[in-house]
Amino acid sequence: MHIMRVEPKQGRVDSETTDALVLLHCEGEGLSKEDGALLDRSLSGSLGELLQSKEFEGKANEVVLFHTHGKIPAKRLILVGLGKKHDLGLDQIRQALGHAVKRVRQARSSVFTVALPTIAPRGTTPMDVAQAMAEGAILGSYQFTAYRSDTPTGRDVTAMTILAPQKAQLRQLSEGIRRGVATAEATVFVRDLCNHPSNVMTPTKIATEAKAVAKEADVSLKILEQKDMEELGMGALLGVAKGSHEPPKFIILQYSGAKKKDDRPVVLVGKTITFDTGGISLKPAENMEQMKADMTGGAEVLAAMRAAAHLKLPLNLISILPAAENMPGGRAMRPGDVVKTLSGKTVEVQNTDAEGRLILSDGLAYATRFKPAALIDIATLTGACVVALGQFAIGMFGTDVKLKEAIRKAGLRAGERVWEMPLWEEYFEQLRSDVADMRNIGGRGGGMITAALFLSKFVGDCPWIHLDIASTDWSERERAYIPKGPTGIGTRLLIQFLIDRSL
Ligand code: BES
Ligand code: MN
Ligand code: ZN
Repeated sequence: MHIMRVEPKQGRVDSETTDALVLLHCEGEGLSKEDGALLDRSLSGSLGELLQSKEFEGKANEVVLFHTHGKIPAKRLILVGLGKKHDLGLDQIRQALGHAVKRVRQARSSVFTVALPTIAPRGTTPMDVAQAMAEGAILGSYQFTAYRSDTPTGRDVTAMTILAPQKAQLRQLSEGIRRGVATAEATVFVRDLCNHPSNVMTPTKIATEAKAVAKEADVSLKILEQKDMEELGMGALLGVAKGSHEPPKFIILQYSGAKKKDDRPVVLVGKTITFDTGGISLKPAENMEQMKADMTGGAEVLAAMRAAAHLKLPLNLISILPAAENMPGGRAMRPGDVVKTLSGKTVEVQNTDAEGRLILSDGLAYATRFKPAALIDIATLTGACVVALGQFAIGMFGTDVKLKEAIRKAGLRAGERVWEMPLWEEYFEQLRSDVADMRNIGGRGGGMITAALFLSKFVGDCPWIHLDIASTDWSERERAYIPKGPTGIGTRLLIQFLIDRSL
């Protein structure tokens, strides 16, 4: 997808020439004495009338468009509701811009101007607001059309201008826009990778994508092939890959942005199963096509790497993508098979559909070799996560209080919130095996927890966070700035965490 251009500008709403002028308005508030009053005067009172007659109230998701008939230079005025002032946060701004950009596209306009809202969410700066505006607009206009001969709804919106009354605000707006565009672009990249079907997006194709990122972002890349993995002893990842004709890839990207070259890195590990049939423990047919997005975690750590390099963040970062396809071929792993992991620990594979934790066990063990200051894995790991958290929270586990707090804050800020789950040793009794060091399923109850506890056995004493994104990676319906299908949720959380950490 082509990413829209976003620019700040100083000026007055009543003298802005554009296809569409967007005004954000909080529910139950009168016309602002700045933008509202200016426009109302030029429009002979029609704004005030709209509010008074309650044809437009400013409720969240509310959108009204009307033509201005030359009374102001902007051809159309679009009012978008922000909901109650009391509940106003950055996510309400993102959502409003998502609605706005869709309305602009419907009107067949390709450029628009939006006024910086006169009411800001508590505790935020114009920089934060501009970031949220850029994110909402870019993410709200996302469409995946790679395989369609028709283009569904109108032409693309190519440019957005954020209008501010004072010149002094422009620098802050630019920085916010720069961040917003970087995080939104990263999310779009993830959505695209996840939308491509698994006959295209194979482990080999993911490796090609990683090569492109490494080249363009100037980060170093290493790809371990099957024989390298055999030499190293990555028995868990190899076990999963055995049932497929697609060769596995173990992808490592490394970015050195820290002032001190030998600063301990942040290491990100993303589950990269390019399709999950379940293997011999085959999944039911219903919704199985959604398992093309079982590489979301991998796509997200790749996108975070790209964004960190673009933003030139002053930190050292490593992204690891253990990539394989989980298929029930003739050489596939059987339930009951025992594999030896890179860590040396043995695992009895009681269910080949619990493949994520297997590839991650080798990914995490490999990651500990870099002595990470923070080790974070992100994975569409368990159906139990969907059951426990529904669609609005990412499951978080971790061994380090400060790191958990940093992730929680980044999630809140990004509008991709995490919810902590327990990582208590008591649950390990569910993972005991009669023949190996542990088994790969935990039986009934606490499925998200036993999966996380399994992973914890491979991180040594690294400060570690596990994020289960099975709840959020796929949306059943279109929302303001979230499309139906792959969402890319988790990407902006990771990047926000990296930005916060490097300040
Ligand atoms: N990729 C799935 C988890 C998943 C389910 C992601 C639904 C997104 C939506 C994972 O590999 C899996 O199959 N997990 C099993 C584990 C079970 C066999 C212990 C599950 O959750 O059913
Ligand atoms: Mn599975
Ligand atoms: Zn899976």
